Amino acid sequence: MKKILVTGGLGYIGSHTVVELYEAGYETVIIDNLVNSRIDALDKLKELTKKDITCYIGDCRDKELLRKIFKENEISGAIHFAGLKAVGESTTIPIDYYDNNIGSTIALLEVMKENNVKRIVFSSSATVYGTSQEVPLKETTSLGATNPYGRTKLFIEYILKDLYKSDNEWEIAILRYFNPVGAHKSGLIGERPNGTPNNLVPYIAEVAAGIRPFLRVWGNDYDTKDGTGVRDYIHVSDLANGHVLAIKQLDKVHGLLIYNLGTGIGYSVLDVVKAFEKASNMKVPYKIFDRRPGDIAVCYADPTKAKEEMGFVASRGIDEMMEDHWRFQKNLYIKK
Ligand code: NAD
Ligand code: UFG
Repeated sequence: MKKILVTGGLGYIGSHTVVELYEAGYETVIIDNLVNSRIDALDKLKELTKKDITCYIGDCRDKELLRKIFKENEISGAIHFAGLKAVGESTTIPIDYYDNNIGSTIALLEVMKENNVKRIVFSSSATVYGTSQEVPLKETTSLGATNPYGRTKLFIEYILKDLYKSDNEWEIAILRYFNPVGAHKSGLIGERPNGTPNNLVPYIAEVAAGIRPFLRVWGNDYDTKDGTGVRDYIHVSDLANGHVLAIKQLDKVHGLLIYNLGTGIGYSVLDVVKAFEKASNMKVPYKIFDRRPGDIAVCYADPTKAKEEMGFVASRGIDEMMEDHWRFQKNLYIKK
């Protein structure tokens, strides 16, 4: 059976997608350089899928390694997760972001082309909508990016569009993720941020666990129901399933497809705090701080296109997201 190459497959979204792919009957080969993941994720994936998954530890910018992977495996296409993803960090080390995110994509596309494998699913982000306040965000909303990380995503989208224009044998799905949270039901895989978490839910989890004294709520003077920022949180397993549906969609519709992957529901920071407290039965003290530079008030998806065209529905609600997130985090802290 041909395999799907999953770059960054030991990371947060990649690992959940590998599980969903095996559940749907696909097989995978992983490449990951462990810059933001740990090798034990591979053992967990083998445990969850009961398969001996092939994984190459190395850099996706390394074309010789990619050639070796294509030589040693029959590859039908790639899902490209590998990349750096922290907005704040990207403003301090922009070259690393451009080099890694764009460099890995170019290397991958070149080696795919050499092997006449022309199917790719790319991890884009709602960040490509920039500061647009036109919610809900549709795939047709105008694009823009406000930081180096966002610009890498936007540039890669343009690279893929240009590639498709030059050769329409390519089959490309650009998936724009909203805010992934939660973890696999088993509690075996989830997000393990290095250092101080920037994102809301990982930070809240550390407050609930007593690692940090309180949550800093970045602003309560936005034009939202309680003044705090509103986002579209999506369970990582629902998001992962979106990749399986995108692969199936590319079987049916050969072309360049762009989909938002979100729930279409916006929750405020304080909604999330409340849901997390309920799920964990722990207190999450918080203090209000000034707005975080670059944040927008409200960001949520119009998920209609993904639903109508490929049957994508993010069915897990906020309570389940928080319960699953906490189950994984709690296990980590207990084992420490
Ligand atoms: P993650 O950091 O958990 O996973 C990325 C994986 O790629 C890691 O395992 C890392 O070690 C690996 N990696 C990075 N650079 C590599 C390279 N050059 N070669 C090989 N492996 C490399 O991040 P994630 O949350 O799973 O995100 C996956 C993708 O989705 C990223 O491209 C990210 O930008 C995008 N995305 C994430 C979010 C989010 O909030 N998590 C939102 C929108 C888009
Ligand atoms: N927030 C706090 N305190 C914190 C962290 C976050 O109040 O300690 C607030 C933010 O101000 C925002 C909301 O919680 O209102 C969500 O913030 P996150 O940092 O969790 O997520 P963002 O929406 O800012 O960004 C995330 C990813 C980006 C991605 C974007 C859209 O970090 O990479 O979602 O997909 F582009």
